Amino acid sequence: MKIITEEQKIQLWETAQQAYQKAYAPYSQFHVGAALLTQQGNIFTGCNIENVSYGLTTCAERNAIAIAVASEGGEQMKIQAIAIANNRQIPCSPCGACRQVIAEFAQENTIVIFLGQKGLEIAIITELLPSEFSF
Ligand code: THU
Repeated sequence: MKIITEEQKIQLWETAQQAYQKAYAPYSQFHVGAALLTQQGNIFTGCNIENVSYGLTTCAERNAIAIAVASEGGEQMKIQAIAIANNRQIPCSPCGACRQVIAEFAQENTIVIFLGQKGLEIAIITELLPSEFSF
């Protein structure tokens, strides 16, 4: 397990802020960006992509994970850290579905960086999703 530096945390947060600018969110106007750092040291980004058939919308976090898997390979890609930002700068942590998908590609102590009620929060994925589904 690699230790993430403070500089890397800030870099991820700033990258997530840029990522939301690419969002396609004409229905909610809520633009979300995610930036993740893999164990191999690469950074991948994603944004939410809405659809007129609302349920087909995909979240920023899962879109970033899809890009990371497509690049590094599903068996290799492990998330060291993932940051999530939004255009309204309001407290927003990953939705339940995204927590489960982050957990799928988590390593020990994968961290999630997001805006909480008291400013920037850093949580371990297992704190956000205890008892993930598994069989
Ligand atoms: N959204 C995300 O991108 N990530 C989340 O974790 C929760 C919600 C998006 C989906 C939708 O486009 C918009 O935020 C409003 O729900």
